[in-house]
Amino acid sequence: MMNAEKTGKGEKPERVEARPPVAAKIQELHARRAKATAGGGPERLAAQKAAGKLTARERVDALVDDDSFEEIDLLVETRATDFGLDKKYMAADGVVTGFARVNGRPVCVFAQDFSVAGGSLGLSHAMKICKAMDLAISAGVPVIGLCDSGGARIQEGVESLGGYAEIFYRNVQASGYIPQISAILGPCAGGAVYSPALTDFVFMIEGTSHMFITGPDVVKAATGETCDFETLGGAMTHAKRSGVAHFIAGSEHDCFRQIRELLDYLPQNCKEKPKPAMTADDPRRESAFLDEVAALDPKKSYRIQDVIREIGDGHQFLQVHRNFARNLICGFIRLDGESVGVIGNNPDVLSGALDIDASEKGARFVNLCDSFNIPILTLVDVPGYWPGVQQEHGGIIRRGAKLLYAYARATVPKVTVVLRKAYGGAYDVMSSKHIRGDVNFAWPSAEIAVMGPQGAVNILYKAELKAAKDPERRRAELVAEYTAKFASPYQAARHGYVDEVIEARLTRPKVVRALHFLKGKKVATLPKKHGNIPV
Ligand code: HXC
Repeated sequence: MMNAEKTGKGEKPERVEARPPVAAKIQELHARRAKATAGGGPERLAAQKAAGKLTARERVDALVDDDSFEEIDLLVETRATDFGLDKKYMAADGVVTGFARVNGRPVCVFAQDFSVAGGSLGLSHAMKICKAMDLAISAGVPVIGLCDSGGARIQEGVESLGGYAEIFYRNVQASGYIPQISAILGPCAGGAVYSPALTDFVFMIEGTSHMFITGPDVVKAATGETCDFETLGGAMTHAKRSGVAHFIAGSEHDCFRQIRELLDYLPQNCKEKPKPAMTADDPRRESAFLDEVAALDPKKSYRIQDVIREIGDGHQFLQVHRNFARNLICGFIRLDGESVGVIGNNPDVLSGALDIDASEKGARFVNLCDSFNIPILTLVDVPGYWPGVQQEHGGIIRRGAKLLYAYARATVPKVTVVLRKAYGGAYDVMSSKHIRGDVNFAWPSAEIAVMGPQGAVNILYKAELKAAKDPERRRAELVAEYTAKFASPYQAARHGYVDEVIEARLTRPKVVRALHFLKGKKVATLPKKHGNIPV
C-alpha cells in the first residue's frame, strides 16, 4: 500500500505494511459479538434447557425463516449503576431483537433471554424492544414478542416501570395498524402481563408458561386462597377460564408452527389485505353434509366446527380461542383462497346461546378482522342470550353489547347465513341485515323470530291455556300454528331481511360468490375521533 501523504513529485513512494489495526478491529468486533451472544453463560443456558425451554436465540431461529434474522442492538448495555449493575455484564441486556422473515414475509421479533438476569426488563432492554416495535410500525410489518422474564428489573427501579410503559404505549399505537403477537414462554408477572394483553394474539405453552398479576404467595397473603402457578396462571387456565390465551401449544416448536400458520391469514398491516393462497378446492363445491345438518331435529345439537370445515377450502379451519367460550366458535378459513374470519354459534355448548364470555370473545374477533381487512362470515344458530342471575350481575347487558357494537362498526364485507335459530336480540346481534350485514342468507331450516314456539305460546296464550279443557292439546295446536307462521325464514325473507333462502348444500358456492362480489366494498363513516365501545 502507498503512503500518499509522503508521495511528492519525483519522490519514490515508500511502501508500508497493511494496517494491522483493521484485522484487530475485526477481531475485536467478533470478540464483542461473541460475548454479547453468549447469553448468561453456559451454566445458565444449560439450566434453561434443563427447564425444558429453548434459549432466546434458539427460539428466534426456530420461529423465523432459515438464515433470515438480522439482529439489531446486540451491543446495547444497561446504563444503570445501582446495586453493582455497572460491574455486572448482562449480554445484549437480556433481550434479542431484530427483523427477519416468516413464510417469506418481513416481521420484527424480540426474544427475552431468561439466562440473563432472569430476562428482567431494565430501561435499555425496554428501549431495544421499543426500537423493534418502532421499526415494525415504520415498515408496516407484524411484530412478534417471545416473552420469558422475571418482570421489571428490580435494581433499575422506576426506569424499568417507565420502560414497560413505553412498550405499552407502542402496543396501543400499533394496535389495529400492524398485527402484534405474543408468545409467553416462561414467567410473565405483574404489570408485565399488560403488554401481551394489548396485543392481538397470546400464545402459551402447557407446563412452562405462566401469567399473573401477583403470584401464589401474594394471593395467599392477600385473600387466603391457596393455589399453585399452574392453576393460577398456567396455559390451560388462561385458554379455558380467563380467555387471556388465544392459543396453547404442547411445545415451543409447536407454538412457532402455530404462529407461522396464523400469520398466513393476516395481512402485513391495516392498509393491505391478507395474501390469497392457492387452492385446489372447487369454489362451487356442494355439500350433502350441510343438507343433513339442516334436516336435523331442531332440538338436536351438532358441532358448528364441522359446518365451518365443510364450507372452507380443503376443510381447513384455524380456530382462535379454541378452549374459551366454546358456545361461540371463531377462527380463520379460506374461501377460494382468500382469508375469511368465521364466527358461528355452536349448538353443542349452551345450545349456542350468547353469554358474557362468548360476547367478548366474538367482539374481539370481529374487531381484529375489521382492523385487518379480513371479511367476516357469520353462521347463526342462536336461541338468544343465556339467562341467569350470574350473567345479569356479571354485566351481560354491558358486556354483551360489545359484540353488537363490534358488528355494527365493522366495515369489512360481512356475509351471514342463518342455519337454524335466530331468536330475539341475538338475531339482531349476529350480523343481521339491520346492523349492515352485506349479504344475508338463510337455510330453509332457519327460524327467525322473537323467540321459540314454546316460549311464545306460553306468553301469548297464558290465559287461554289456563282455561282450556285440554291444555296440552291446545298448546300443541298453538305451537304448530306459531311454528308455521314464525319458525321459518319466510317472514324475514318477505321483508328483505334475508336476501335469499338457499339450500344448505349450496352454502359454500353462495358465500364465495358474495365475497367475490364484495371485494371492492367501501363504507363512509362519520368523521368522529373514535367511538366509545362499552368496555
Ligand atoms: C432482577 C431478577 C428478576 C427481576 C429474576 N431475576 N427476576 N433480577 N429483577 N425482576 C434474577 C434473579 O435474581 C436470578 O439472578 C435470575 O434472575 C434467575 O431468577 P431465579 O429466581 O433464580 O429463577 P427461578 O427460580 O426460575 O424463578 C423465576 C421467577 C423469580 C419466578 C421469575 O425469579 C421471581 O419471582 N422473580 C421476581 C418476579 C417479580 O416479582 N417481578 C416483578 C414483577 S412486578 P441470579 O443472578 O441471582 O441468579 C413487575 C412490574 C411491571 O414486573 C410493571 C409494569 C407496569
